[in-house]
Amino acid sequence: METETPEILLSRISEFIAQTMGWDYPPSRHADLRRGIAAAAKDLGFESAADCAHRCLAGALTRPQLDRLASHLTVGETYFFRENKAFENLAGDILPKLAARANRELRIWSAGCCTGEEPYSIAILLRELLPDWRQWKITILATDINQRFLRKAEAGLFGEWSFRSAPVWLKGRYFRVPSEGRFEILPEIAEMVRFAHLNLAVDDYSSVLNEFGPMDVIFCRNVLMYFQPSQSLKVVERLYRAQAEGGWLIVGASELSHNLFSPYFPVNLNGSFLYQKESNRPLATAPEAIPASVAPQFEESIYANIPSVVLAEAEPAPGDFAKIPEQIPSVPQNEPHESAALSIEARSFADQGNLTAALGCCDRWIAADKLNPASHYLRSVVLQEQGVMLEAVQSLRRALYLDPEHVLAHFAMGNLARGRNQFFESRRHLSNALRLLKTFSPQTVLPESDGVTAGRLAEIIGSLTEMEVEV
Ligand SMILES: C[S@@+](CC[C@H](N)C(=O)[O-])C[C@H]1O[C@@H](n2cnc3c(N)ncnc32)[C@H](O)[C@@H]1O
Repeated sequence: METETPEILLSRISEFIAQTMGWDYPPSRHADLRRGIAAAAKDLGFESAADCAHRCLAGALTRPQLDRLASHLTVGETYFFRENKAFENLAGDILPKLAARANRELRIWSAGCCTGEEPYSIAILLRELLPDWRQWKITILATDINQRFLRKAEAGLFGEWSFRSAPVWLKGRYFRVPSEGRFEILPEIAEMVRFAHLNLAVDDYSSVLNEFGPMDVIFCRNVLMYFQPSQSLKVVERLYRAQAEGGWLIVGASELSHNLFSPYFPVNLNGSFLYQKESNRPLATAPEAIPASVAPQFEESIYANIPSVVLAEAEPAPGDFAKIPEQIPSVPQNEPHESAALSIEARSFADQGNLTAALGCCDRWIAADKLNPASHYLRSVVLQEQGVMLEAVQSLRRALYLDPEHVLAHFAMGNLARGRNQFFESRRHLSNALRLLKTFSPQTVLPESDGVTAGRLAEIIGSLTEMEVEV
């Protein structure tokens, strides 16, 4: 199948996508757009990516087909208690204020909820904080444009990767373990969350307002960062209208912008900014810009002082096959096109949650391009999702053998070792990851990461290692 889409067609389709889904695809992101359309075309059974793009522009795609196209372009990066400061602020400041009201009603909306980790984190937090929760009328609405994400969210089944920054007690208290490495949310939490399809770019949110009433707290995190500026302004206006007086809007740390959120009043809670709807308060007192101290920063690692002898215990040197399960033969490489197509296909299956097909594709990709660390890394991600941890570790070792500087592979190795209580091993990999992350600027999106920036990964490692200290 032809995967190339001409540049002119990409520009037209990027305009269409901005109008209908809100997302910004400037020329610098055309490679991502090209990949997404190629995967959608294959998924929808079109002859070629260009064919799919033409049909889309001609208005010939059905609603479900457009949803499928959207699902190939959305970034599904999320995890439990992501950017934990937001939850701390909810627990420490916002909820006590809302709880002081007489009506015992609470409406919280996770707009752009992805696969459910965010709204379930909110539900769990409420259960932890409100001993008399049964006496409350609690609404947790969770909406997304991507139907596949919503189905996964409703199924409530998660892999290890979703817990990469979660508090240690989370799995034990709120999940069942139907099989190794799979965690199912308890029904009593699942039933607190109501999932629904909603496109923030075109819906007017009246369905939300009519059915649930104005929202006390809206989480819209790591969603608008992908939007075209004019589209995000419109979303913010609509969110503002859907918000209760005195209600709070919580956005991602990298999305703070007093211009974009100017209808709201910015409030600094414990060093992070939130936005509050207070039409009585004069907006003129709002600060002009986000102080540098709260802008996302690349923290110094708590491992900065680990003696270099520990760091020196790095991945096996080429030729040291004892530490990798099987030798990686050096073979002539197949056609790069075949390898590229297989990589797209494998990622697309993995994104759709079709793990068996994704694994099959990874294996074919590896056969076609044995020396590519990305293929081994993706295989390890799929295996982790399937709960096949030992094999996942083997794939990670291969990835690190081929690229000892593969930061995500070090991170995953550190995380998995931590899960097995191998803290020395975990520390070694996490400190390697932090060392490598320093070579990136904090805003750089890490390759093969589904949108995680270097700064964010450093933050995650920081919080993981804090938990290790607690252990
Ligand atoms: C990177 S995830 C963030 C998930 C979660 N809020 C978090 O911070 O962990 C972005 C989510 O926004 C959703 N999204 C993007 N554009 C959207 C739109 N126009 N309408 C509704 N949801 C959208 C995506 O499908 C994806 O699930």
